[in-house]
Amino acid sequence: MTNKTSIHGSWASRWIFILAATGSAVGLGNIWKFPYITGENGGGAFVLVYLACILLVGIPIMMAEVFIGRRARKNPIDAMSDLATESDSPKAWGLVGTMAMISGLLILSFYSVVGGWVLHYLKIMLSGDMIGATSAQAGTAFDNLLADPAMLLAWHTLFCAMTVSVVAIGINKGIETATRIMMPALFVLLLVLLGYAITTDGFAQGWDFMFKFDFDKLTWGAALIALGHSFFTLSLGMAIIMAYGSYMTKDASIGKTVLTIGILDTLVALVAGLAIFPIIFSNGMDPAAGPGLMFISLPVAFGQMPFGQLFGVLFFVLVGVAAWTSAISLLEPSVAFLVERFGLKRPTAAIGIGVGIWALGIACLASFNLTSDVTFFGKNTFDFLDYITANIMLPLGGILTALFAGWVVKAKFSQDELQLPSVLFKAWSISVKFTAPVAVAVVLYFLLNPIK
Ligand code: PHE
Ligand code: NA
Repeated sequence: MTNKTSIHGSWASRWIFILAATGSAVGLGNIWKFPYITGENGGGAFVLVYLACILLVGIPIMMAEVFIGRRARKNPIDAMSDLATESDSPKAWGLVGTMAMISGLLILSFYSVVGGWVLHYLKIMLSGDMIGATSAQAGTAFDNLLADPAMLLAWHTLFCAMTVSVVAIGINKGIETATRIMMPALFVLLLVLLGYAITTDGFAQGWDFMFKFDFDKLTWGAALIALGHSFFTLSLGMAIIMAYGSYMTKDASIGKTVLTIGILDTLVALVAGLAIFPIIFSNGMDPAAGPGLMFISLPVAFGQMPFGQLFGVLFFVLVGVAAWTSAISLLEPSVAFLVERFGLKRPTAAIGIGVGIWALGIACLASFNLTSDVTFFGKNTFDFLDYITANIMLPLGGILTALFAGWVVKAKFSQDELQLPSVLFKAWSISVKFTAPVAVAVVLYFLLNPIK
């Protein structure tokens, strides 16, 4: 192990790293996607497949990202090119880090627009406007938001500013402080919402939707969804965990740390499902995924329930915190790069990139109204960016990172950082050399050629 530290500082403890990485991992994927795909694809049976994917593919790639960052103590681009050089391989491997960082920035541009929607809904819940609303009224309210570029811009700008300001302050005073406050708040809010959901008459139905074993629904297609999601949910393939890993203290065990992050992310996703679906079912509504669940069905459900306004507010605070901590993690790698490579001050770098993201976000939000007829390959700007990042760049980044860790980096470097017993090290090597790249390549293939 090397004794270098990053010029940006180190996390105060192993737990702070765990919570910061969990802050990145816990996002809309846990709250609006996982519960729904679980219910649709065989409940408990799907959860088992998903856990296998997390363990066999997600965790090994995450370990690779952490050790690459921690060993080099640099931003993802230089970390990968340094480690390639030390391993007598071409420096051009740094390009994988470059691609990963760019995909993170592209994601941030539309993520910030959605973060803005969440802030807008927080305000709506606070105002009580949704009390007693029907689904049709809530649907119109959401359509009206999307049709209003000035309103979208205001909230997007606020969300960008919130993200930039935390990253501008730095690792210890910025991201670490935000983590210390927001992650415990997130866990508490989630448990409070779970407690509330248990009191509704939809709880048993919600539980069945999530956990009843339905092997008939567990198809090969479902297994692919589990694999693809295991990857997205841990924020892999975007050099985020690599950047966060470069601030990790050297005495902490990477395997145990990464396993804890995977468990926390999974628990949040399971509890989120148990908190959300009972609320939906107890109001006689149908489960759905994505924006419709969060911005139409749930506000209607909260609007009809006792104490619904209070819990609706808490729910949107929870989602806002989850989105904010993920956005912070999307910005950090590029800021670290500009500071290290060009000697920029951190606030200058954060604001500079922030302005670029903000501008690209404007193109995304305009695609719902002013420029809705502008399309790339048949998709509007927002959907196009979502598609190329989540379906192409992210899996590609993951495959290349796994191959890099398994085949390019000298085994003595990885063993030195991971410090695993030899059986586990073998298992890890097999995963990053073969299992993970092949599995993710299969997902990538089917994402690009959907089964009709
Ligand atoms: N991991 C996040 C989620 O599950 C999504 C995300 C992906 C966030 C990539 C940041 C970067 O919602
Ligand atoms: Na997640």
